[in-house]
Amino acid sequence: MSAVSQILTVERVSELRAALDVARRDGGSVGLVPTMGYLHEGHQSLVARSAAENDLTAVSIFVNPLQFAEGEDYGTYPRDMERDREMCAAAGAGLIFAPPVEEVYPQTPVTAVSVKGLNAVLEGQFRPTHFDGVTTVVAKLFAMLGPGRAYFGEKDYQQLAIIHRMAADLSLPVEVVGCPTFREPDGLAMSSRNVYLTAEERPAATVLWRSLQAGRDAVVDGSRDPGEVEAVMDAVLAAEPKVSPDYAAVVDAATLERPDVLVGELRLLIAARLGRARLIDNIGVDCDRL
Ligand code: PAF
Repeated sequence: MSAVSQILTVERVSELRAALDVARRDGGSVGLVPTMGYLHEGHQSLVARSAAENDLTAVSIFVNPLQFAEGEDYGTYPRDMERDREMCAAAGAGLIFAPPVEEVYPQTPVTAVSVKGLNAVLEGQFRPTHFDGVTTVVAKLFAMLGPGRAYFGEKDYQQLAIIHRMAADLSLPVEVVGCPTFREPDGLAMSSRNVYLTAEERPAATVLWRSLQAGRDAVVDGSRDPGEVEAVMDAVLAAEPKVSPDYAAVVDAATLERPDVLVGELRLLIAARLGRARLIDNIGVDCDRL
């Protein structure tokens, strides 16, 4: 039997819990990889890591309306369930949870999880309701599946930091595991939304990675002034006229605050628009280990 025909796909929470009860009956551990589908190799690396560390890996595939604002791409977000099933199976997942919207939100939710402060900076300045939508659905997924571990990509670094904080603040019995960003050979971070880039736009998209590397090199070369490092990143971005940056920032890796002087573990983050796509990327640098 092929791996894809063996992978169980469920749409209802009751079926999901029944399947997970069986998996956990003899002490089996469950890892969760939450996704919005249209999977790529970066997602597969999360599934493979979970499969190596847990007895059963569940992948949720749910395009969460709560994290999209009016005018964003909720309606056109790319979807391909058959391909996703194959990719999950190939990477070692045992179960897919692919609920319809009414299964996750049987009534309009009036309860939200909001990680204050962290949800308002960087992406939060451009997408003010986004992270509350993310944390609310991730908290619901944790409640529905009860995973021991959950895997998220560092590509969405702010999301990862927010989910870490949510799990800590709410004493959720889940280990949040951050995993490295997967890149195309030319450095572009893999993202489901890269499909929006046209052939003419695609080469310009590498400017985010080039700018991040230039910023990191400035820190490695001794710059401890955030304004100076951001100016280096801005200059690289400005040389690519097709790209309109929203921000290029250097922040403390844990608090996401912009320090006066660069010390300890830092994260450099960029968001920029390119045609229909809005791209984000980031890189880490630890001043104490240079
Ligand atoms: O990163 C994503 O794909 C989504 O934000 C997540 C974590 C699956 C929540 O919808």
